[in-house]
Formats: sequence, C-alpha cells, structure tokens
Amino acid sequence: MIETMTAAFLPGDSTVELRTVPVPAPGHGEVLLRMKASTICGSDIRCIYHEHLGKGPEGYQGVIAGHEPCGQIVARGEGCRRFKTGDRVIVYHISGCGVCNDCRRGYMISCTSEKFRRAYGWQRDGGMAEYMVAEEKDLIALPDELSFADGAQVACGFGTVYEGLTKIGIDGNHAVLITGLGPVGLATGALCRKLGANKIIGIDVVPERMKIALDLGVCDAVLASGPDNVAQVREMTGGFGVERAVDCSAHHAARATAIRATRKWGKIVFIGEGGTVEMNPSPDMIHDQKTLYGSWVTSTWLMEELVERLVRWSLHPADIITHRFPLERAGEAYALMASGKCGKVAVCADEELV
Ligand SMILES: NC(=O)c1ccc[n+]([C@@H]2O[C@H](COP(=O)([O-])OP(=O)(O)OC[C@H]3O[C@@H](n4cnc5c(N)ncnc54)[C@H](O)[C@@H]3O)[C@@H](O)[C@H]2O)c1
Ligand SMILES: [Zn+2]
Ligand SMILES: [Zn+2]
Repeated sequence: MIETMTAAFLPGDSTVELRTVPVPAPGHGEVLLRMKASTICGSDIRCIYHEHLGKGPEGYQGVIAGHEPCGQIVARGEGCRRFKTGDRVIVYHISGCGVCNDCRRGYMISCTSEKFRRAYGWQRDGGMAEYMVAEEKDLIALPDELSFADGAQVACGFGTVYEGLTKIGIDGNHAVLITGLGPVGLATGALCRKLGANKIIGIDVVPERMKIALDLGVCDAVLASGPDNVAQVREMTGGFGVERAVDCSAHHAARATAIRATRKWGKIVFIGEGGTVEMNPSPDMIHDQKTLYGSWVTSTWLMEELVERLVRWSLHPADIITHRFPLERAGEAYALMASGKCGKVAVCADEELV
C-alpha cells in the first residue's frame, strides 16, 4: 500500500491547491475508498472556491475538498457490519452522530449534534483525493448497472432533487418549470422525465446551459431569464401556468418567477440555496391556494431508493457530466464549473477517466 497521496484543497481565492498528504487509515466502523469519481457542486463554488463564505453546516474547515464522492472499498477498519473490500459505494455526504432524532430518520443532513455532525469536503476530508476514509453508516451500495460517475451524481445533486420532487410529487398531469439549469436543474429535468412529467420548461441566463438542457433532452423548451418569463410560461401552458415548479437557481427573480408561474393549487419547491426572494403572499400564494416547500439534501433511505429506481429507469446521472479531469487538473475543473459554461464537472480516476 502506498503511503502518500495527492489531495485537493480550496484556499478560497479561486484556486485549487494540490498537496501530498498521508493516505488515511480507516478507524473503527470506517472504510478506506479508492476514489473513482468526485463531482463539483454549485455549493462548492458559492461557499468555498471564491471565498470561504459558508457558515455553520456550510463552513469549510480547510479539509480535503469534494462532497460528491464515489469509489471502491480497498480496506476496512474494525467493526464494519455490512460492506467489504471490493464493494462499490456512494458516500452520503454528511456524517451525522447517528443517534439524534434526525439521524434516526436517515436525515443526517439535519443532525443536531454540534460535536459529531461533519460533512465530507466541508468539515471532514472529502473525495478530491486518491483515497478517502468514510464511515460505513454513510455508505450507499452502488448497483452494478451504475458507474462510479453515476454514483457521484447521486451523493448530492440527484439525491437532493429526488427528495424535492418526492415532496411536491410529479406525474403525467404535470407541466414543470425549472428555474436554473446548472447540474441540479439538469438533474431535475432528467428525473421529471422518468417520473412522467408532461411538459418540462427550463429557464437560465447562460446560453450554454440552455443548450445543454435541450441537447440532453431534459427540457422540452427553454427560456432566457427575463421579466416576461411568467407570461411566457402561462402562454406555454394554456394560460394557466405550471402545476409544479422547482427553483435550482437561488436567484431572487427566478424564485419569484417559479412562484408566480405556478397555477392555482400548484406546488413549488426551493432547492437553490442562499440569497432572498420577494413576493406578495396574497396574490402570489394565498389566493391561489399554492404550497411552497424547502428541501435540503435527502435521507440515506431515500438515496437507496433512488439508486434502485435509476437502474429500473435506465437513467444514468453521469449523462449530465460534460467534462472529466484527472485529479492533477482539479484547478481547471473548478475554474470551468465557476464559469458556468458546462454541465456537471467531474474529477475522475482509473476506469472513469475516459
Ligand atoms: N437544497 C439542497 O440541499 C442543495 C443541494 C445541492 C445544491 N444546492 C444548491 O442548488 C443550486 C444549484 O446547484 P448547481 O450545482 O446546479 O449550481 P449552479 O450555480 O451551477 O446553477 C445555478 C444556475 O442558475 C442559473 N441562474 C442564475 N440566475 C438565474 C436567473 N435569474 N434565472 C434563471 N437561472 C438563473 C445559473 O446560470 C446557473 O446555471 C445552488 O444554489 C446550490 O447551492 C442545494
Ligand atoms: Zn452539493
Ligand atoms: Zn445526529
């Protein structure tokens, strides 16, 4: 076994620092993973890459970056109960205490233990390295039909979106509006298709992203963000508006569009994080009997359900990856994701680097 490895850190000045560090040893109940795919999230750019802006659960503590890890177990510590060497696994990216009420519901994202809640890539070492230690209780088995790059997409983005869509419910009666067509918005389109949505409309400001959404077939129509969006969406939906809307932009104007372009009795979910929104509760929500949900990541059990469904649907989340880089070029990978002129950006190794 080699003793040192390369790992990527984010100093917070729009650069990536590669350092040589010891290969970690798995402790009790932990495994050592050979990293195969680690993807970059909008949250990494928003809270860490340009500047260390995140607070609390989004506070970056100078650890190895990357909260969307997927790899293969190469060693186990004492006391592991289910997974073994050779298993292919996704890391649910927040390690909780395991015994608070939220952890017991599987929502380790909401763990209330200040001492034990630590997210990979934020407060404990993440996936942008050759190897990574993870707790066995945070692992989701990756089915043979899915690639490691598919799995990395589930660790945050697809898992998050599946949770949000489960809250609002999507079926064949629904026209869906997606505001923001970054990787999370693209994942929303891909999942809405498989859930049977009747019409999927996307909005973004970056022409490259609008084109990717159409090229991938995850939206039926795309609109450039602007003040006419509500009228345009109504026109595309018989004058009514959409039954369901998902904000994946975090932009205040796009959030207001998502609310206002939703028809009576419709449901909206906010996934994009940070920022604000302004609306007029009576005309925008109350008089039209609408429901607005917030949704934060997902649970371990829903993530397991999602990977099962992905196989059933033959849906490969890696299809929204437009660029793959080796770890040595992680700097280019983050810079590209920060530019927005891409779909999902992945740092990969071995068979995933093709
Ligand atoms: N709720 C959660 O649990 C959770 C989990 C993961 C990511 N997120 C958040 O979801 C959001 C999306 O993540 P991502 O990785 O796709 O990030 P991203 O930054 O790549 O995507 C955001 C997209 O919104 C677009 N946008 C900006 N202003 C807009 C406007 N006015 N109208 C329409 N589109 C606009 C951007 O051009 C971009 O394509 C981020 O805010 C991220 O932090 C939330
Ligand atoms: Zn994320
Ligand atoms: Zn907990």
